[in-house]
Formats: sequence, structure tokens, C-alpha cells
Amino acid sequence: MDYFKRTKIARILTEDAIALNQHILVLGWVRTIRTAKKVAFIELNDGSCMGNLQAVVGQPDRFPALENILTGAAVRAEGRLVESPAKGQKYELEVTGLELVGKSDQNYPLQKKRHSYEFLREIAHLRPRTNTFGAVNRIRSKIAFAIHRFFQDRGFYYIHTPVITASDAEGAGDMFRVTTFDLNKAPEKDGQIDFNGDFFASEAFLTVSGQLEAEIAALALGDVYTFGPTFRAENSNTSRHASEFWMIEPEMAFCDLEGNMQVATDFLKYLFNYALEECADEMAFFGRWIDKTVRKTLEHVISSDFERLPYTEAVKILTQSKQKFEFPVAWGADLQSEHERHLTEKVFERPVIVYDYPKKIKAFYMRVNDDGKTVRAMDVLVPKVGEIIGGSQREERYDVLKEHMEEKNIDLEPYRWYFDLRKYGTAPHAGFGLGFDRTLMYITGMANIRDVLPFPRVPRWAKF
Ligand code: 4AD
Ligand code: MG
Repeated sequence: MDYFKRTKIARILTEDAIALNQHILVLGWVRTIRTAKKVAFIELNDGSCMGNLQAVVGQPDRFPALENILTGAAVRAEGRLVESPAKGQKYELEVTGLELVGKSDQNYPLQKKRHSYEFLREIAHLRPRTNTFGAVNRIRSKIAFAIHRFFQDRGFYYIHTPVITASDAEGAGDMFRVTTFDLNKAPEKDGQIDFNGDFFASEAFLTVSGQLEAEIAALALGDVYTFGPTFRAENSNTSRHASEFWMIEPEMAFCDLEGNMQVATDFLKYLFNYALEECADEMAFFGRWIDKTVRKTLEHVISSDFERLPYTEAVKILTQSKQKFEFPVAWGADLQSEHERHLTEKVFERPVIVYDYPKKIKAFYMRVNDDGKTVRAMDVLVPKVGEIIGGSQREERYDVLKEHMEEKNIDLEPYRWYFDLRKYGTAPHAGFGLGFDRTLMYITGMANIRDVLPFPRVPRWAKF
């Protein structure tokens, strides 16, 4: 098979002289083609890297396939790899064999010009073939790998939490329902839908977070992490919210909020450093075409001490600030994105970890402080994006948890197992969630979460 015989362009361009003066075979797609009488130039890209390989066809009339090769076509090209005499590339392919594998035509939407991101979202089946989305896809993969490396190197176990769940991990009610009922004739009992007849014989939802199951795993395996898709039916139509996004959730047994802050800080710095060190081609591309400041922004986070700031202090700073905010600041109200950005961009000019938030505005599972009013929550805020990590020390005390949940009017029945965990060998534990897609926005400089997700799902949009 050609598949095993071909040489990937990434190898040719990165492993210097790997195939110089040798006969090689390349399989890829035509980015551009220029045909003159005596010579034709084809820019070939096979997706393995940013760079193209220039295929040079001497005596074009000897290659009948050329006539049908247009931008976008899939081709098989072979010949000798030589040093390029021309500027702009180091190597080129002296073509001796050329075949059209799959044709393209004049209507190929990716002609050589800049397309708007809005237009490209409509053609998500073709946009990975652009430079920008090729780079985004490759860096998604590389950063995913870095995430596993960070945790595996530190003895964390990767656990799989269910996508379909029966409990609301955040207690916020923003869940998509999973059912096989025909919505027009779902069985009812006492005027309500009777889920006993549904697929799982109970209500079921897409998970908003794997945290509660990660807590189970942490109280057995010690240090664990999840890395998977999560779903939120909140109607937030912003550039930073997706209805389906990926989240990394580490959970550590015998760990408190300070330990949690430390892991979160080390983790973010590691990922940004990995992007700069191991993804040089992509980072150069993003710095040149997407956001000129992206490299500096990452370097700044890597070299900064993260400020640790109690929520109450944050509110004091914000209320005393001369800055006009759209949303009012008051103790007890959640911080809005504008407040978070003010703290991290203007006041401290570096990442800020705000902690000890009011109990009323945070989730039921967070450990209640001795003041009875605040919980051991933390949000990591970074310049430009605001919140990138949310986490907490968890409530490990059975009675306090019960009281807190009752206060929040949460039906305790679906969480019976969660309480059970607090009955048998409970221990302090803590964890956090890092939004994978927001992290990628940060690393790439892409301004909209829709453009770091291959197939974004947001309110009123689930195409492909
Ligand atoms: O702050 P959140 O809601 O925290 C949790 O889900 C906890 N269970 C995490 C934990 O303690 N294990 O979400 C965590 C992070 C946010 O900081 C943000 O980066 C990202 O997930 N996130 C979103 N990303 C994209 N679109 C959305 N709608 C997001 N909601 C949260
Ligand atoms: Mg949050």
C-alpha cells in the first residue's frame, strides 16, 4: 500500500535531509498550482505539518494528469527530493510520477484569499485544510498530549467519568436531557412525565462535569484526573462559552485549597511552556497571523507569581476602583468577566487566584469556612480571558454537606452515594476544572471559542 510507502512532509521538513536526493512518494492535497509551458509548480500539503512541499513538474505535457489537478485535489506525487534552487523553500520534489487521486473543481471554497471566520464555520468540513485551522487542530492534539504528560509524570491516574449521568454535578440545572421518548407522546403519571418507562427507567442527562465521579476515584486512587467533553445548556452566547466543551478535572485526596492552587499554577505554566517549546511552528504562525502578543502573553504567565486574593479583598479593590463597570460590584454578587479582567489586567497585571467566595453563589460541594458565609472556592483569572480555572476544596464532612445542600434546596436522593463517601473513610480533598478550549484560545490567540473547536456547539448552532 502507498500508505506505508509515503513520506510525510513533516518528516521531510523537520528531520533535515532525511530523504535528500532520494526517491520519495508524497500523498496530499493541492494548496496552489501554477502551470506554465515548460514547468508546473504544485504546493502540496499533507496535513502532517504547517509547511507545504513544492512539487516541480518539468515538461508538463508529459503529465496528462496535470490538466485535471486543481486547488483542493488529492494527489499522489513521486520523484526525487532535491535542494530547491529558488527562494522560499529548502527542498522541492522533482516530479517523475503524478496521479490525481480525487479531483476538485472551480467551486472549491478555499481559494487563495483570506476568508472570514464566520464563513469558515459554515464549511467546517473543509476548514481544517486552511493554515489557521490546520494549526489549531494540531496544537489541540499536542496540548492534549501535554495534559496527559503533566499528570502521568506526577503519578495521577486518568479516569473516565460517564457522559450520561443522573445527577447535576454543579447543581445549576443547565443540563441537556437524554431520553428515547417520543416527545409528542411521552407517558404521564399524575400529570407529569413518567420516566420509569424511559430508556434508563429514570431521568438522565449529559454531564456538566465529571467532578463528583472524580471525587469517588480520588478517594480510592489518590490522585486522578478526567479529560473529556462536558455539556452545558446555559444560554450564554459569548465568545468564551460553548454548549459542548472539553474540561480537565484533577482531583487530589488529602489535599487542601493551598495544594489545589499550587497544582493549578504548575499545570497552567507547564502547558504554556509546552506550547512555546514543543509547538514552535504553530506558535510562530499564531504570532504572525492571529495575535502578535500571544508569545509574550504566555511568557508573562509562565514567569509570574500568581496573586492569591480572598474574594472579600477583591470586592474591596473593585468597589474602591475608579473604573466604571457595567455590572455593580457588591459583596455577595458573583464577579463578572469585566471585574475579573480588571483585577488581572489592571490591578495586578498577572494571573490572580480569587478564593473564599460567598457560599450563596457557589456550588453545594465546596467546603464551608468557619465564618459560615464563605466556601473554599478558587477561580484562576488570567489577563485577556478572565476565568480559566474553577475549583475548590470539597466538603468532606457529612453533616455540614447535608446542611449546606438543604439550605440550597437540593433534593438529596440522587446524591446518596456522594454522602456515603463521607461516611466511609472520608478525607479532605480538592480539585479544579480547566476549560480546554479556553486554554487553547489563550495559547493560539483565537478570539472566539467557536474557532478552536472543530465542530462548535453553541446556542442555536449544532451543525455537522
Ligand atoms: O467553573 P466550572 O463550572 O467548574 C466545574 O465544572 C467544576 N466541577 C470543576 C472542578 O472543580 N472539578 O468550570 C471549570 C472551567 C471554567 O473555569 C472554564 O474554563 C471552563 O471550565 N468552562 C467553559 N468553557 C467553555 N464553555 C463553557 N460554557 C464553560 N463553562 C466552564
Ligand atoms: Mg466557574
